[in-house]
Order: sequence, then structure tokens, then C-alpha cells
Amino acid sequence: MKTQVAIIGGGPSGLLLGQLLHKRGIDTVVLERKTRDYVLSRIRAGVLEQGLVDLMEEAGCGDRMQREGIRHDGTLISYGDQMFRVDFTEHTSRPVMVYGQTEVTRDLYDARTAKTVFNVDQVRICDADTDAPYVTYNVDGAPQRIDCDFVAGCDGFHGVSRNTIPLSVRREYEKVYPFGWLGVLSETPPVNEELIYANSDRGFALCSMRNPQLSRYYIQCSLADSVADWTDDAFWAELKRRLPPDQAQALVTGPSIEKSIAPLRSFVTEPMRWGRLFLCGDAAHIVPPTGAKGLNTAASDVHYLYQGLRQYYEDGVTDGIDAYSEQALARVWKVERFSWWFSSLMHRYPDQSEFDLRIQRAELEFLRSNAAAQAAMAQNYVGLPY
Ligand code: APR
Ligand code: PHB
Repeated sequence: MKTQVAIIGGGPSGLLLGQLLHKRGIDTVVLERKTRDYVLSRIRAGVLEQGLVDLMEEAGCGDRMQREGIRHDGTLISYGDQMFRVDFTEHTSRPVMVYGQTEVTRDLYDARTAKTVFNVDQVRICDADTDAPYVTYNVDGAPQRIDCDFVAGCDGFHGVSRNTIPLSVRREYEKVYPFGWLGVLSETPPVNEELIYANSDRGFALCSMRNPQLSRYYIQCSLADSVADWTDDAFWAELKRRLPPDQAQALVTGPSIEKSIAPLRSFVTEPMRWGRLFLCGDAAHIVPPTGAKGLNTAASDVHYLYQGLRQYYEDGVTDGIDAYSEQALARVWKVERFSWWFSSLMHRYPDQSEFDLRIQRAELEFLRSNAAAQAAMAQNYVGLPY
């Protein structure tokens, strides 16, 4: 088989890149390890930056998102019994859109008419450092090969693309956080119209949503915890302890329809290109979910790579793809910083001293009382320019 761009991974990165290229008549094949249903069963974050909304529109996949997505012009932040609002549109003139990543992925799959191969295994990226790269893989036990011009490694943190780049070339940077997030999805109305990020002396909590009848809640938990340790009642009781009293009072609880624990890490691979292999999204970087930046940073990678490949095929120049790694990493590191900062502000760390706690509270007080601090947070939260 031959194609122009072989895309490893059928998550949001691979599908969005594939759809954008397909719309420009550039031939792609997506190779996905799992089934479509398995990919769509993953519950992930739900806040889209305007840049991703625009890319979905450009990909011709924005209709349901515009119908069902919820525009948010600000967010709430609480600590102790205090709660204040950071207004996005006042400081940036841009909102964010609340719309589940699962729905983004579903819309991209529904639109995809180019070739997607599911249930692949033994994927190998070969000769990426030559002008004739190819990908080998098995499907239904039969060995296959795709010859291509370029390979887009969109196969997430546990994929094969990143490790295709030789250790002599690759540099990795990592920070692992000493806690996890226990997340619950419930068919209950959200406690508030806006998201609530809560710093309490018992740890972090987050109140989010998917639609007016579907809520998403998280509490910071120990890495030693397992889902089995948390009954629904225990979860709701703990969430209420971490919210301001009026919000705890207003919380509508119900049976969890999904419950999972996610570890938190910051991670970056440099470079994001090796020869004709380009890394996109979680394959290249991971952020703690505090700032809702995982999907949105995958989107900015896709934007840069799509523009570079489009320029290569349409104008015959390589400036865009040659600049890809440096351009993408410049934004990735700013997002890593924001996600680290917001995580440091909102969580309780096991090794925090009394001094550290006072510094954290002073930072929250400064954010609550200072317009410039709120503007800086809003600029990062709604999404730095591409
Ligand atoms: N071969 C083929 N497909 C693979 C392989 C492989 N060796 N390894 C992983 N995959 C697939 C996974 O099954 C998954 O569907 O690649 C896809 C990668 O998707 P994601 O992990 O969702 O990564 P990405 O598309 O970059 O999206 C980033 O997803 O994980 C969240 O928080 C993250 O919101 C962010 C977003
Ligand atoms: C979510 O709705 O899942 C969500 C929202 C905001 C975050 C993280 C997760 O910062």
C-alpha cells in the first residue's frame, strides 16, 4: 500500500490531522491499535480552546460541536470558604467550549472517509531518517506494509513513534506528581453553570460537566488508592468536604456511570521531528489535566504539522515542516508551565511545609485580588495563540 502521510494512532490527534489533510486532497492512512468503539469508550477531558474549535470547523466536523457544545466565559476558583471568578472574555475576548473529547473523536470518526485500519499490532516505523520511510504492521495476523512520504506519530504516550527516535537524538523531560485524580461521570445536573476548581485543606477537587444532564467531577487522591476503595457515597461525601458550603449544599449526587483514577505527569520529548517522522499530541508530551491542556496542545501540534504538510504538497517548500519541532515545542513548553503552575496552585502536596502552604494561599489571594494576575491566567486558560 502507498500513501502520502501514514498516521499512527486514531485518537484525536491522528483523526484531526487526517481529516484536515484529507480535505486538502492529501492522501492519508490511519493505523489504530484498538477498535473504534474502544477508542470512543475512553472518558477524557472536555474543555476546547477556540483554536481547536476553529480546526474542527476547518475539518468540516464542527456542526454537532456548535449545536451541543457549551460556551463558557469564565471559571470559578475556590479555596477555603472563598470563591471567585476569572472572567475569560473580559481579559481575552475569547471563551472556551465545553464539549467532551469523546464527542470530538466521535465527530472525527463519523467524518472520516479516508482509510482507517483498526486492530493493528506490531507497528514499526522504518527508514524514517530517509526519503522513503515505510510502516510495517500486522492486522488479523497478516503482515502489511505502507510506503509513504511522511509518518505522523499520533499514537499517544504508550505508542511506538516516540521510541523510534534514537536515544542519541531524543531528550526527555519529566515530572511525576505525588497524587492522582479520581474522576466520576454521573447523570446529574452540574452543581454550577461554570467549572469550579477547588483548593481545600483536604486536597483538590474539580466540578465540570458534559451537558446539562451529565456531570464530571474529580478529587485529588493518593496514588495508593484504587477505584475499589471509593464507593459512590464516599466520593460524594469527600467532594462536598472540598467545596464551599453553598456549593456542597447545591450538589446533586447520583450513581457513577464511570469511575477511574488517572496519574498526573508533565512530560516533553525533544525534538518532535526525526527525518520524515513527526510526533503529535500525547506521543510527544503530557500535561497534568488541571489546565485542560492535553487535547488542546495536541490540536496546536496538528495545526503546525497540517500547515507544514499542506505547504509542502501545495507549494513544494519545506519551511513549515522544517520549523515544526521548534514551533510546536515553543508553545508546548508554555502550556507545560501553565499546567504545572495551576497544578501547584490548586493541589495539596504531601511534602508541603507550613511555609509552602502560606505561599500557596498568598498566590491564591493575589489571583483573587489582582486583575493582571487574572488576565495572565485567562490568557493561558483560553489558549495561547498558535
Ligand atoms: N499502533 C497504533 N495505534 C496505537 C499504538 C500503536 N502502536 N499505540 C497507541 N495507539 C493508539 C491508541 O489506541 C489511541 O487511540 O493511538 C491513539 C492515541 O490517542 P491518545 O492517547 O488519545 O493521544 P492523542 O490523539 O494525542 O490525544 C491527546 O488524548 O489521552 C488524551 O489527555 C490526552 O486529551 C489528550 C488527548
Ligand atoms: C473535564 O471536564 O473532564 C475537565 C475539565 C477541566 C479540566 C480537566 C478536566 O481542567
